[in-house]
Amino acid sequence: MKIEVFTLFPDVMAPYLSASILGKAQEAGLVEIGLHNIRDYAPDRHSTTDDEPYGGGGGMVMKPEPLFAAVETVLGERLGETRVVLLTPQGRVFKQAIAQELASLRRIALISGRYEGVDERVREHLADDEISIGDYVLTGGELPALVVIDAVVRLLPGVLGNEAASTQDSHSEGLLEGPHYTRPAEYRGWKVPEVLRSGDHAKIAAWRRQQSVRRTKERRPDLLEQANLSPEETEEQRQTS
Ligand code: ADE
Repeated sequence: MKIEVFTLFPDVMAPYLSASILGKAQEAGLVEIGLHNIRDYAPDRHSTTDDEPYGGGGGMVMKPEPLFAAVETVLGERLGETRVVLLTPQGRVFKQAIAQELASLRRIALISGRYEGVDERVREHLADDEISIGDYVLTGGELPALVVIDAVVRLLPGVLGNEAASTQDSHSEGLLEGPHYTRPAEYRGWKVPEVLRSGDHAKIAAWRRQQSVRRTKERRPDLLEQANLSPEETEEQRQTS
């Protein structure tokens, strides 16, 4: 997979992308991530990337020319084959299902805006998709782009050592994960549930599933309505609520 990122602050993003699992995924050739400074594509002598809003009001707006030039120059003929995503608090709210959708694509481009916003023509004529990472406003789209990249890259085949790990994540089945334990079997008198130490894999799987449903019901009942519960599980939920 190829990810091209357009930002005014590539230096802020680079260290996170080169560390740990994301760094190793790039070294292994499982994903290629290009960082592009929008300022390098500003056509004027002063490399201006923002300007005052038409109609007045506070804040600055990112100019369209550097953004179009950056994306069109870097993607070239591949623009048509690339999902161009603008990070903005007005976008669709990022979820595991969107991470899975993006992970299935060969090429994505992420545009991180700054200032008060970007010129509307970028949204209308350059971006194919707009994503928000949540209902709060950050100073720019750099952290949102890192969030999206992190969630997408860990889903790519071969990135996590254990292939099963990402399919068991919270949210991947529309449910939260149940509790995890490691050694010691008893810590300060708090014991690991006996079933996990039983060695009975079917029983362990059934217990984990039950914990997962229970925890989702307690913490995120909104998710449970969308989850794929078996008829027995649905009946159990009905009885216990
Ligand atoms: N830019 C500023 N805030 C944002 C958010 N919540 N999601 C995506 N991009 C943003």
